[in-house]
Amino acid sequence: METIIGKSLIQAAQFLNNNQLVAIPTETVYGLAGNAFSSIAVQQIYAVKKRPSYNPLIVHIPNIQYLNTIAKNIPNNAYKLFEAFSPGPLTLLLSKKNIVPNIVTANLPYGAVRIPNHKLTLQLLNNLSFPLAAPSANLFGYISPTKPEHVFKQLHNQIPYILNGGACKSGIESTVVGFEKGIPVIYRLGAISKTQIETITGKCLLKNEVNNNAPVSPGMIKYHYSPNTPLLLTNTVDATIQQLKKKKIGLISFNKSYETVKVKHKIVLSKKSSLAEAAKNIYAALHSMDELNVDMIVAELLPNKGIGIAVNEKLQKAAAKTTGL
Ligand code: TXA
Ligand code: MG
Repeated sequence: METIIGKSLIQAAQFLNNNQLVAIPTETVYGLAGNAFSSIAVQQIYAVKKRPSYNPLIVHIPNIQYLNTIAKNIPNNAYKLFEAFSPGPLTLLLSKKNIVPNIVTANLPYGAVRIPNHKLTLQLLNNLSFPLAAPSANLFGYISPTKPEHVFKQLHNQIPYILNGGACKSGIESTVVGFEKGIPVIYRLGAISKTQIETITGKCLLKNEVNNNAPVSPGMIKYHYSPNTPLLLTNTVDATIQQLKKKKIGLISFNKSYETVKVKHKIVLSKKSSLAEAAKNIYAALHSMDELNVDMIVAELLPNKGIGIAVNEKLQKAAAKTTGL
């Protein structure tokens, strides 16, 4: 199957109406989308992504009103959070209605829902008669895609269409939030911080890490987002590079270019020291380095605040394959 990269909402909708898959742009990362009401389409998502069947998918909807079609017993805090952050990088876990097939939620009673903030994808959702189930459009375990070419590299010939919405603006995944007795609980850190959620609901908890085989939320799996090249994280770039001096190294740094440090390739995530810009660029930097034929990627951890906390967590998971955590 030839994979086309294009901007036609009509073509994208035609494929989706035919139970085929389309990669869609969102503000966080590209999604691998199919009709959320069709088990046939959803089965293909798991197959193409090589995703284990216990790992549920997010249902993307066009607006808050649509919540009632797919979810029930919606807590007040869910409405408050959606009103504050949607469309945007917030995913809520809500009791699902039967119209959503069990395969979408991996048989869990709760389903993940979000309203993505991307003009093309919102238009597409408005034109369809069903919502879109979509995980990130990467192969299971590999780096998430933030540009159409990242999707093409991993999934070409497996899907008919990539809807080209340019580079994703936030660059890391949505924050996944469930509720316990109405109180928000973060299952996966993402583009919206715990502090931002607390400003709306007063209280917000973090779900603890769980064991690797049966994660409460597979965003908690320890190996994830990993390049094929070994990845080493550091807070002290100079010292780390000195220790590794015989290797061909690719260096990803936060805001400094480390002029005196001799490495094969360098990428600075944000010269102006913006955490948001660093988050936007992190996956693209990992994708690029993974193609440059280096022996090792060294990445500098970001300051541990705001969205930097979530980016550092993604980096830890990406590096876990190397360190064998
Ligand atoms: O930003 C995003 O969230 C992107 C874009 C495409 O929307 N999507 C994304 O999907 O990151 P995915 O499938 O790669 O990650 C979804 C996360 C996983 O950690 C999954 O385990 C969790 O959400 N999740 C989905 N449904 C769930 C459920 N019913 N209960 C618990 N966790 C769930
Ligand atoms: Mg993913």
